[in-house]
Amino acid sequence: MAAEPLRDVAALLDVYRQGLVFHSLCAVSRLSIPDRMGDDRHDIARLAEETGTDEDALRRMLVLLAGSGFVDLDAKLVSAALTERGKVLRRRHPMSLWATFATFGIPDVGHALSGTLKDGAPATRHALGVDFWEHLTKHPDQQQIFGQAMAEQARLLTLPCVPLLDWPADGTVADIGGGIGVLLADILDEVPDAQGILVDQPDVLDRARAHLAEQGVDDRCTVRTGDLFVPPPRADVYVLSRVLHDWDDDSVAAILDAVRRGGDDTAVLRIFEDVLPDDAVPSAIQGWADVAMLALYHRAKERTLPEYRQLLERGGWRLERVVQGPPGMCVIEARPLATS
Ligand SMILES: C[S@@+](CC[C@H](N)C(=O)[O-])C[C@H]1O[C@@H](n2cnc3c(N)ncnc32)[C@H](O)[C@@H]1O
Repeated sequence: MAAEPLRDVAALLDVYRQGLVFHSLCAVSRLSIPDRMGDDRHDIARLAEETGTDEDALRRMLVLLAGSGFVDLDAKLVSAALTERGKVLRRRHPMSLWATFATFGIPDVGHALSGTLKDGAPATRHALGVDFWEHLTKHPDQQQIFGQAMAEQARLLTLPCVPLLDWPADGTVADIGGGIGVLLADILDEVPDAQGILVDQPDVLDRARAHLAEQGVDDRCTVRTGDLFVPPPRADVYVLSRVLHDWDDDSVAAILDAVRRGGDDTAVLRIFEDVLPDDAVPSAIQGWADVAMLALYHRAKERTLPEYRQLLERGGWRLERVVQGPPGMCVIEARPLATS
């Protein structure tokens, strides 16, 4: 066989194998095995005992993970230690991705994508029979880990955008669907005289209070139980961070309209999302993010700038500018159409 087809076969088999590596990383994260391993080398038999896992299964999975550089094993397969890469799966790692791997979602519903391919409905609906948000509401433990995963990703993607923007020195910033408040706390840290309003679902806000207090901004921030589709309280700047890509076009227009009705004519809207190119094939990461949305939520998707412009206009906003953040994140700024 010629070299090229062999390379192609090897590439496909690599993807196939990586699928099992991914699921194994999810499994060890959910059982807190990286946390238990810490910085030390562990006897695998004892580690199995401590983590309530089957010793043979654990050893074999650690061998798989050693092959991808997450674990270091001795030649007799008696002991294991996390590599620096493996340590990123510990909860206390400063750049932890523990929750991103432990969360319920893509790892569990990905197999239902064949259903999505047939009818466009999210894999979550095929696999769970209910929408993903409804599933999370019914399973508070999973909602908590999902919220933590959002916080991990916010640290990587949205926080680097904060210093790129001017925030009102003593105004009010409202983060709508702001999760546990990672982004809002960072904005309030940047502008010490500003006030914050965090809007999200009630159980998310319970955890947000703790986070805002930890960050020392709780005295400047009110938390409001709210619905994305209902006008939020008045604010100078509204933030919608990684919220719109969870929704179909009509819902996005309705969310933007609700925010428009909450603010006055001087309000500024900042949308934190990746923006797809409208004249080129999206990057591999953009393709991944788009199919992740397809899998999780009803008709959810990543969008191009013309698509955002059109939806903003439907919701009563005029697109003003786009600020490029780190790879995979932009801030789309808009002002009320009435003032143009
Ligand atoms: C993908 S997360 C983004 C969280 C955060 N803005 C960030 O950038 O990390 C979407 C957020 O929208 C919230 N959300 C979903 N449906 C909502 C609704 N109907 N009303 C209010 N918040 C909602 C979720 O609880 C979640 O915190």
